[in-house]
This record gives sequence, structure tokens and C-alpha cells, in this order.
Amino acid sequence: MSNLPPQNAVSPVTANWRGYLRIGSIVTETPGVKSFRLLPLSGDGPMPFTFVPGQFINVAFSIGGARMNRSYSISSSPTQRDYVDLTVKREPRGAVSRHIVDLLKVGDLIEAGGPVGKFTFDGTEAESIVLISAGVGITPMVSITRYLTERSWPGDIFFIYTCRTPADFIFADEVAALQQRNPRLHVAVTSTKAEGTDWKGPRGRLTKELLAQTVPDLASRRIHICGPPTMMEATKAILTELGIPPDQVKSELFGATKPSPAAAGTTAKATAAATGSLVTFSKNNKSAKIHDGQTVLELSEELAIGIENSCRVGTCGVCKVKMISGEVTMAVEDSLDADDKTNGIILACQAIPKSEITVEA
Ligand SMILES: Cc1cc2nc3c(=O)[nH]c(=O)nc-3n(C[C@H](O)[C@H](O)[C@H](O)COP(=O)(O)OP(=O)(O)OC[C@H]3O[C@@H](n4cnc5c(N)ncnc54)[C@H](O)[C@@H]3O)c2cc1C
Ligand code: FES
Repeated sequence: MSNLPPQNAVSPVTANWRGYLRIGSIVTETPGVKSFRLLPLSGDGPMPFTFVPGQFINVAFSIGGARMNRSYSISSSPTQRDYVDLTVKREPRGAVSRHIVDLLKVGDLIEAGGPVGKFTFDGTEAESIVLISAGVGITPMVSITRYLTERSWPGDIFFIYTCRTPADFIFADEVAALQQRNPRLHVAVTSTKAEGTDWKGPRGRLTKELLAQTVPDLASRRIHICGPPTMMEATKAILTELGIPPDQVKSELFGATKPSPAAAGTTAKATAAATGSLVTFSKNNKSAKIHDGQTVLELSEELAIGIENSCRVGTCGVCKVKMISGEVTMAVEDSLDADDKTNGIILACQAIPKSEITVEA
């Protein structure tokens, strides 16, 4: 325990916290999905960080000798200051989700960092909210709904969810209990594999008709979508068809298709001569020219620098590094806050050098 990072700063922080959390309890929600209640390392007292509903935390594990980072949305409400809940679906071949769901037990410590993310809603952004999710994409939506209900938020909440079988409806009891307490919570759940069950709700995938029927004046409302890639694409297509302006729609993709990290020296790019700007990794004392369109993270992997990463699409912030000199462009920089920018922090997975650069890695 002596090598653990400092814990529980006097005032809770709202970003860039890193440390260890203790598993206080584990609940099986549906087949293959469990919620993990995470407590401060000491086991009691307030959490060392606060968050906005919809945010996630990054967790890191050492599995089979490799360090792996993943993001998980917080499913509990920020009004609960003594814990956060993560709800994790076991992916059949997933490296980290299987480790979490199959092996973790009460009392285990989890290395974590955060909170992170801009896929948030605390009731100040709009007068009503439409939350559309599928599968385990329900987690940020439940956090938002719990929070708004606990705060007696006066706006309408339209909660639209797609599950495979009725038994896969995560938080079914919780959603029903919230509905009892909140007359402004309108719920529509559709099951895509309800054959042979007594499911009384809608069946099949989310349709334009179900959406229009559940949400009056849809075009005037703020809409959040979260789930796997196919569901996100289909839902966005429906919203486009219904004429919803894209700037009213916020989304968070859980199953990002991302390029696999390249092992050191194995990429095709590594075999062609690089002609781009020189990148120096100061801690490793290594420099190389970058290939056209290559990110600082990709070059670092060729050189076996070991910059940690997770989403590779600019949202999780795991690949943050300090740039000591030079200039980069970043297509996405969602996980950088104002302090990061002032301090020269860049996202290696997004950074394309505009000039010769030196990074602290
Ligand atoms: C912002 C954000 C929030 C998230 N919140 C949540 C959350 O609240 N709950 C949650 O459960 N997840 C959440 N996720 C997803 C989570 O981060 C992980 O991506 C997920 O748990 C899968 O990780 P893994 O290591 O188990 O799978 P990986 O090993 O990364 O595999 C990814 C996918 O590929 C498949 N796969 C792996 N190996 C193979 C193979 N050899 N052949 C074919 N397919 C293969 C796996 O089944 C899996 O579906 C979130 C993601 C993001 C970006
Ligand atoms: S790896 Fe997630 S922001 Fe770069």
C-alpha cells in the first residue's frame, strides 16, 4: 500500500483526480452486467472528487502483464457523495470487462482517474431532456435521471431504452421506482428479442413512430444518445429524418471502433521513410520524424515509448502528455480543460505536429 498515490484531498476536485478506490459492494443487475460501488480508499467519508451526471471515470488494470485503460460512466447520482457506482457489461471477448465482471471482489482496489466527459446534463442546459439509450448505454442516462429526480427538477424527462430480451433491461426496477416518484419521467422501453416472453411493451428496434409517439414536439428538445455504434447510427438517421437540428443532439459512443495499438516497430508506416516534423520524447531520450497524418501516440508506439491510452478518439484523456515546445493540431480535444491547455497538455492520440515538437514522455 505504501506505493499508492496520495488520497482524498481536503476539498473534492472536479477533474484530473487520480488514485485508488475500494469496491464496497457488487450487485448483479442482469445476466453479464454488474454494478460496482466504489468507495474512497479509506472505506468511508466523501469521495475525493465530484462529478456532473453523465461523466465517466477511467480505470486501469494490469492484465496478463499488460497495462490496460478503459472508461466507465458513473451510473449513480452526484447527490450521493460517499460513493460512485460503475455498471459494467461483460463483453464475451473483452479483456477488461471480463476481468472486472468475473474476477473483482468486494474489498479490491481499483486504480482510477477522473471525472471526465462533456456528455452531461444537470438541468440547467434545457427545459426538458430526451435520453435515448440501448444496452449498457443506459448508465449515464440513469445517473442523469436519478439526479434530476432527487433534485425535483421541474422539466420533462423522456427516457427511451432498447434492450435485447426483457431480462436484459438493466435498472428495470430502478426506472420503475423513479417513475413512481417523478410524474415528469416518461418511459418507453422496447425489446428486440421478446419472443416467448410476456413482455407487454413495444417490440423491435427503436422506430421513428415510437419516438414521435413518446416525445411530443421532439424537434424542440435537447436529445442525448448513448449505446453501441449500430444503434447510434440508426438513431441519428431517424433524428435526421425527423428534421432534428444536429446541434440539439449530444452523443456518447461506448463501443468506439478504434485502431488497435501498434506494437513497437510493426506498423506499415514504420517501413516507409518519414518526412514530417521531428518529435522528441524527452524522458526516453528518443527522437524521430513523424509520417504524414500520424499522431504523436502512433509514433510513440513505433518507438515503444509507452504513452498510456484508452479511447484513442480524444474523449477519455488517458493519453495526456505535456508538450514542452512546438505546435500541434488536434481534431478532438474534449478531455482537455482550461488548466490543461494553459499548461501545454496535449492529447497524444489526437496530436498532429505542425512543427518540430518535444513532449515529456
Ligand atoms: C466514455 C465511455 C463510457 C463507457 N461506459 C461504459 C459503461 O458504463 N459500462 C460498460 O460496460 N462499458 C462502458 N464503456 C465501454 C468500456 O470502456 C469498454 O470499451 C468495454 O467494457 C469493453 O472493454 P473490454 O476491454 O472488455 O473489451 P476489448 O478487449 O477492448 O474489446 C472490445 C470489443 O471487441 C470484442 N473483441 C475483443 N477481442 C475480440 C476478438 N478476438 N474477436 C472478436 N471480437 C473481439 C469484445 O467482445 C468487445 O466487444 C464506455 C466507453 C466509453 C468510451
Ligand atoms: S486515448 Fe483517450 S483521449 Fe487519447
